[in-house]
Formats: sequence, structure tokens, C-alpha cells
Amino acid sequence: MTEAKKTWSDRFDTSLHPAIAVFNASIGFDIELIEYDITGSVAHAQMLAHTGIISAEEGEILVQGLEQVRQEYREGNFHPGVEDEDVHFAVEKRLTAIVGDVGKKLHTGRSRNDQVGTDIRLYLRDKIRGIQQQLRDFQQVLLTHAENHVETLIPGYTHLQRAQPISLAHHLMAYFQMAQRDYERLDDVYKRTNTSPLGCGALAGTTFPIDRHFSANLLGFDRLYQNSLDGVSDRDFAIEFSAAASLIMVHLSRLSEEMIFWASKEFSFITLRDSCATGSSIMPQKKNPDIPELVRGKTGRVFGHLQGLLVLMKGLPLAYNKDLQDDKEGLFDTVKTVQGCLEAMTILLGEGIEFRTQRLEEAVNEDFSNATDVADYLASKGVPFREAYNLVGKVVKTSLAADKLLKDLTMDEWKALHPAFEEDIYQAIAPKQVVAARNSYGGTGFEQVKLAIAEAQNLLTNS
Ligand code: ARG
Repeated sequence: MTEAKKTWSDRFDTSLHPAIAVFNASIGFDIELIEYDITGSVAHAQMLAHTGIISAEEGEILVQGLEQVRQEYREGNFHPGVEDEDVHFAVEKRLTAIVGDVGKKLHTGRSRNDQVGTDIRLYLRDKIRGIQQQLRDFQQVLLTHAENHVETLIPGYTHLQRAQPISLAHHLMAYFQMAQRDYERLDDVYKRTNTSPLGCGALAGTTFPIDRHFSANLLGFDRLYQNSLDGVSDRDFAIEFSAAASLIMVHLSRLSEEMIFWASKEFSFITLRDSCATGSSIMPQKKNPDIPELVRGKTGRVFGHLQGLLVLMKGLPLAYNKDLQDDKEGLFDTVKTVQGCLEAMTILLGEGIEFRTQRLEEAVNEDFSNATDVADYLASKGVPFREAYNLVGKVVKTSLAADKLLKDLTMDEWKALHPAFEEDIYQAIAPKQVVAARNSYGGTGFEQVKLAIAEAQNLLTNS
């Protein structure tokens, strides 16, 4: 065991057992944080110079050296390994190799505990904003379809049974609203993520006259952790993010599920374009909806990472514990999974599907989903709703037996059912009219749908 391999202070005589070194190391995954680690260290070095803890010249050397490490990394010339343990040590070691002994001053007045906390927050802040942009793109494709399909009708379901016809735009705008809540939720998570733990030290602060506000400002943090123990050990923001990400996945997964059955022969509401569908290795006729299936499937791991973080945290005494090193892989995977799923679903919706309007038109004309409207018709003529409801139930039963739809009943048949029926019943149960009539706020009536679309357009142009 050579002295050079030993990471720790002279309290240690030998270096780690090789297998333990591998087990202990996080460099294999926390390399993901390298840019944020360097950015955090630059701010820390500037703060050290600003407060006179190191000289201005030393500060400058550290900053230049750190930027050189960044450059080497970007050019693919920096390959830290297990012997570096984690990204923080790796950067500091490389810095010292570049700038010499001044590099050893970088870690003055901080610990890897506040350092790693700073890095994850900088990382997540960035990713949150990126995911929000992706949500906007996703909302835009939903909106574009909605604009084109205000008057396209689609069966609306409850219990996956045909319930009432609705505007296709209304259906799609429901997902727009879910994405809007996802967007706002991320704004909220961002607020708490954007809090600086830098300067909390190992757990208790530091003896050096640091200026935490100065480094927080440089890094664009809105506020500082007020308690150093909390600062180094809080991962609430990561849990909140994982919960927000889980909800994004819930929404994408629900839409996926619908697209999967819409693409089936049984529904045939959409056609998948070749660019976004896959074939079978054995059944030449197959065209599979792999994209929404994958999105639906990947939802599970995002939920799993949320659960993993909650369990990781629940038994931890204050303050930092090495368990916290295990917060990263799940978090990184959550970020990548959500990014990938949002991108795929946006492409799928944007260019991978076509609504089969002819088939949708047939669908809303082939069932009893206008039955409520017959009851509403009678109720509007003074028949108590419950009485009307029972009567229409009977109408549906006799029509079913006669293999007829409501629109096929003759005026005499209507009159025989109730004298209040007039000629205008045909108009009242025509699917377009049925949809148009649901003009209550937030309903599927075309006027309401147009209002919702206008508001959504406004939201997207002003954000
Ligand atoms: N790699 C560690 C992590 O990800 C960095 C902090 C280590 N701190 C310590 N006291 N061992 O959490």
C-alpha cells in the first residue's frame, strides 16, 4: 500500500481494502455532479478570497485551476477512478495537481457534507427548469391537437363504459391541465431546492470567518439554511422532487394507457405512424405501441425511487450519515426517466399519431351515450329528473331488445313513451348538440372548450 493512494489524514496507516474501496466509492455515479461541484467550488474559492481567508491571488489561482479541470472534463480528458472515491476528492486532487499546493487551500472552511449538499441542489435546480421546459413542449402539442379537434367528438367514459360524448379537445385538455399542475408543483419544489447549505461545514459551521451569504449569492441561491445540522442532512427537496416526478409519470402513464387501447383494433381511435411504432419479430401484421408501453412501464421505477428516498431518510440521526451517498442514483435515474418519457411522449403526440375522425364519428353515433340527454330533455319540460331517468332506462331497454338506437325511434314511439316528447327530441339527442349543450363552466360544450383553449394559449405565450 503506497502513501500516494491513501486519501485520509495521517491518522490512517494503510489505505482501504480494494473491495471496500470499490464499495465505498461513489465516483461511478456522482461524476454526474462534476460541473456543479466545480461551480460550487469556484464560488467557495471566491468567498475565501473575498473574506481574506486566502489571498486574492490564491483565489484567482484556484478559480483558474478549477476552470481548467472543467475544460479537461468537457474535452474528455479527465477520468477519475475508484482511488478518488468521489467527485469532490477527484476534482480537488486534479486541481492540486494542476495548481500545486494552493489547491490544498480550497477545502478551507467547508466539508464534503455541505459540498455534496450544494452540488445536488445546483444539479436539481438545473434539471427542474429543464423538465419544466419539456412540460411546456408537451402542453404545446396537446394544445395544437386540441385546437384542431374542438368539434371532433369522442366517446367519454366512466368505468370504461361509454358515458357521454365529449369533444376530443376537451379530453386532451384534461392532460394539459395535469401538466400545468406538474409545472406549478416544480416551481414550488424549486423554491426549497434553491437554498444554500454551503458553509454549514461538516455539521456545526466553521471557525473561519466565512461569508455564507456571499457564496450563496454567487450561486444564485435565494436563501440559506439557517441551521447547519439541518443544512447538511436535509434531503426533503429531493423527496419533494421525486414526488412531483412521480405525479408527472402518473399523468404520462394514464395518457399512455389510453393511447395503447385507442391504437387497438377494438377501439381504432388512433393510427400510429411508422416513425413512432414498432413491429413484431414474428407476426408481420403487428404494429405495436411500444412508446406508451415503455412510459407506462417506467413509471414504476420512478415511484420506487421516491419510496427508496423516503426509507433512506426515515431512520437517520442528525446530521450527515454515509447513507446519504445513496440518495443519488435513484435521483439521477428519476431525472433521466422523466426527461426521456416527456420527450418521447411529446414526439409521439406531435408526430406519431393520427386521430381517426371518421371512426370517432361512427363511435359516438352507435351507442346510448345520449340517454342522459333524453332525461334532461324531459326534465326541462317539467318532468322530475328521477322520473325522467327511470323512463329513459325503460326506453333504452326496449330499444336494445328491438336492436335500435334512440335516434331510430319514431315520433309515435316517443309520444307513446311520454306525451312531452316533441319533434325537437331528434335534435336534442344528436351527438353534436349533446356535446354543445354541456356549456357549464369547465364542461365539454364547444364554447367552454374554446375558452379553455384560449386561456391555455395565453398561458403558454406569457410564460
Ligand atoms: N460521496 C459522499 C456523498 O455522496 C460525499 C460526502 C462524504 N462525507 C463524508 N463525511 N464521508 O454523500
